[in-house]
Amino acid sequence: MIRVHLSHRGLRSAGIITVLSLACMYWSVADEPAPLRIAPAGQQPPQLPNEAQVMRVKLQRAQLILQALTMEDYKTLQENAESLVRISRATEFLRAYKTEEYEFQALVFQKAAETLAAKAKEKNIDGATVAYVDMTISCVACHNHFRGRKRD
Ligand code: HEC
Repeated sequence: MIRVHLSHRGLRSAGIITVLSLACMYWSVADEPAPLRIAPAGQQPPQLPNEAQVMRVKLQRAQLILQALTMEDYKTLQENAESLVRISRATEFLRAYKTEEYEFQALVFQKAAETLAAKAKEKNIDGATVAYVDMTISCVACHNHFRGRKRD
């Protein structure tokens, strides 16, 4: 068994701080989707995020929205709702299932996120809460739709 003795207090806390900051660096990197890089000609094509990566970001945004709603933090609310609108517009081409129901749920999601951003701007907490619920229903409805299906 290997035991590391750090008898000096300062050394020990320096070690703890190093471990914590490495952990924070890891988490902050792990939280972000892979950056988009434009490769020089002749090299690998740029890496686009896949739908699962996009969804993890959506989940984080939705969680921050719930937090902001409960704390009446309109700035965070608006920022995260606007980010979801941008994500849903920018990732239309990524859509995994080209069915009518999938397209419909994607549109419902986008409209609910737009309403959420608008209500946050107006500082309308009730309107924002309803839009948040509509948006959450569309997350679950879309997932219910494609679950068990094969990709085209
Ligand atoms: C229009 C359809 C649609 C909507 C709306 C939608 N999702 Fe998804 N979601 C998908 C699909 C398709 C996948 C599977 C992606 C894959 O595995 O490639 C998925 C997967 C996920 C995953 C799993 C990702 C992983 O790591 O495998 C999470 C988490 C998720 N969605 C969160 C959300 C949240 C939160 C919302 C609403 C704020 C939402 N989704 C709205 C279609 C949708």
